[in-house]
Order: sequence, then C-alpha cells, then structure tokens
Amino acid sequence: MAQGMRQGYSGLQILLHWTIALLVLFQLIFGESMGEVAEALEHGETPDASEQFLADAHYWVGIAILVLVGLRVILRVTQGAPAPIGSGPQLLIAKAIHGIFYLLLIAVPVTGLLAVYVDEEIGEIHEIGKPLFIAFIVLHVLGALFHHFKLKDETLRRMFVPGR
Ligand code: HEM
Ligand code: HEM
Repeated sequence: MAQGMRQGYSGLQILLHWTIALLVLFQLIFGESMGEVAEALEHGETPDASEQFLADAHYWVGIAILVLVGLRVILRVTQGAPAPIGSGPQLLIAKAIHGIFYLLLIAVPVTGLLAVYVDEEIGEIHEIGKPLFIAFIVLHVLGALFHHFKLKDETLRRMFVPGR
C-alpha cells in the first residue's frame, strides 16, 4: 500500500481511525452478548431484552467496521499515508502492527458473518480475534505513547491534526 506519499493523514483518515477504534472497543467490551443470545435461543429461552439489544448492536457495528475499513483502505491506496516515524527494527514493528490491524479489521468481521450465515463453529475462530485485538491495541498504544513522551516526535499529533 502507498506509504510515504504524504507527510500527514487527511482529516477523513483521522476521523476513520478514531471512529473505528471506538467501534472496535465497543465490540470487545460487549461482544459476549452475541454468544449469550445464541445460547438462550438454543435452550428455548427468551433472551434478556438488553442482551438482545447488545447482540443486535454487535451485528450492525461489526458490519459498519467492515465498511469503514474498506473505505479506509481505498483512501490509503488513493491518497497515500505517511510512513511511520523511525528507522530500523522500530519502523518494521510499527509497519507490522499496522498491517496486522488491517488484517484483523477485515478477518474478524468476516468470520463473524460466516459464523452467523454459514457455520456457527466459525464463531470459535471469530473469538480468537478478542485476545489478538487486545494484545495489539496494548502494543500500539504503548508505541504511540513512547513516540509522544519519550521520542517527542509528531506521531501522536499527526493522528489528531490533518496534514498534507
Ligand atoms: C482498536 C483500536 C485501534 C486500531 C484498530 C488502530 C489502528 C491503526 C492503524 C491500522 C494505523 C495505521 C494507519 C495507516 O498508516 O494506515 C494506526 C495509526 C495510528 N494509531 Fe491507531 N488504532 C487504534 C487505537 C489507537 C489508540 C488508542 C491510539 C492512541 C493512544 C492510537 C494512535 C495511533 C497513532 C498515533 C497512529 C499514527 C502512527 C503513524 O503515524 O505512524 N491508535 N492505528
Ligand atoms: C471488528 C469487528 C468485530 C469484533 C472486534 C468482534 C468481537 C467479538 C467478541 C469480543 C465476541 C465475544 C467473544 C467471547 O465471548 O469470548 C464476539 C462474538 C461474536 N461475534 Fe463478533 N466481533 C466483530 C464483528 C462481528 C460481526 C460483523 C458479526 C456478524 C455479523 C459478529 C458475530 C459474532 C458472533 C456470532 C459471536 C458469538 C460467537 C460464539 O459464541 O461462538 N461479530 N465478537
């Protein structure tokens, strides 16, 4: 994907980054209601109304993430994105984590859809997304804070302020 074509992210790229980040956090915190509702229905019970609401939200928020990530990838290819600041192994790690995020942001909702429409066993694979997302978010946030407070570079600022 195009990298280094620009110095900063566009306003729309920044808006998408933070919107998707918030939606992913919502999915990670409330995802369990999806399984709870399926289990209640299997046992012939009526799911709790709030549980049902959260499960419906999980479905639609998950699909929204997939659509927004599609838009984000198109923007990245057409407008480009700045290369992570740094060199050597540090640059490679940042690039790898960003690449893994794009993979997860596509594979996790797709396996969710497959679990609903094709085979519920795929839900087991979908659930692996949870610890993977959490681990990479922790690394990603630590990286961002390290850049901001230790290296004192533009990394965190440019994910808030649009640039060319
Ligand atoms: C679910 C949560 C998150 C996901 C999935 C995510 C994903 C990503 C991805 C894929 C990129 C690379 C963008 C590109 O070049 O195309 C990125 C960049 C960035 N993210 Fe996140 N992010 C999340 C949360 C956060 C949080 C909480 C912070 C702040 C503490 C943060 C700070 C940054 C910064 C500063 C960059 C820019 C890095 C650079 O310019 O080299 N992200 N994020
Ligand atoms: C980035 C998007 C998504 C994230 C981060 C996510 C995350 C999660 C999490 C954390 C759980 C609970 C796992 C557990 O109980 O340990 C879950 C369960 C589930 N999600 Fe998602 N999800 C996403 C998108 C979707 C989509 C788009 C669908 C379907 C339309 C979906 C369908 C399901 C189903 C069916 C379960 C229950 C799986 C089972 O019990 O076997 N998810 N998801």
